[in-house]
Amino acid sequence: MSVLHIVTYPEKVLKEKTNPVKEINGNLQRLIDDMIETMYAAPGVGLAANQVGVKKQVTVIDVSVRDEKSPLIVLVNPEIIHMEGEIEAEEGCLSVPDYTTVMKRAKKVCVKGLDREGRPVEIEAEGLLARALQHEIDHLNGVLFVDRMGRIKKEFFKKRYARK
Ligand code: NI
Repeated sequence: MSVLHIVTYPEKVLKEKTNPVKEINGNLQRLIDDMIETMYAAPGVGLAANQVGVKKQVTVIDVSVRDEKSPLIVLVNPEIIHMEGEIEAEEGCLSVPDYTTVMKRAKKVCVKGLDREGRPVEIEAEGLLARALQHEIDHLNGVLFVDRMGRIKKEFFKKRYARK
């Protein structure tokens, strides 16, 4: 396993939609293991494949720092099939270092996809896990959390962030 380089805003690959995985093979297993190691090394609670420059629908999530019963989750070709409620909380991203903002997200979600062996899975989540799932699936669709901010907030972000 190896720790991969995490690309940061405003790199183009973060704005691009990733492609569905068609074959679960050894290369994919290596990518997943490297993504897990990269997420833990960062450290972060989630990582999407395009954050390490790979345009595939793969994400890894582990929110056990905040919710100790939550396991390591590997999702291939994930899709949100249900969203419920609204909740605001602070959010950040490994690809936008040193920046967090309060964001509105669905309170509960149901996500379907495949696990790392290619078996269908469905995950119902709330709290930080629901937020992480929405954030990572956004990544796979080429959407960053800062893209979801209102216009004025986004302008402030760009000014502040461009200065670094
Ligand atoms: Ni992120």
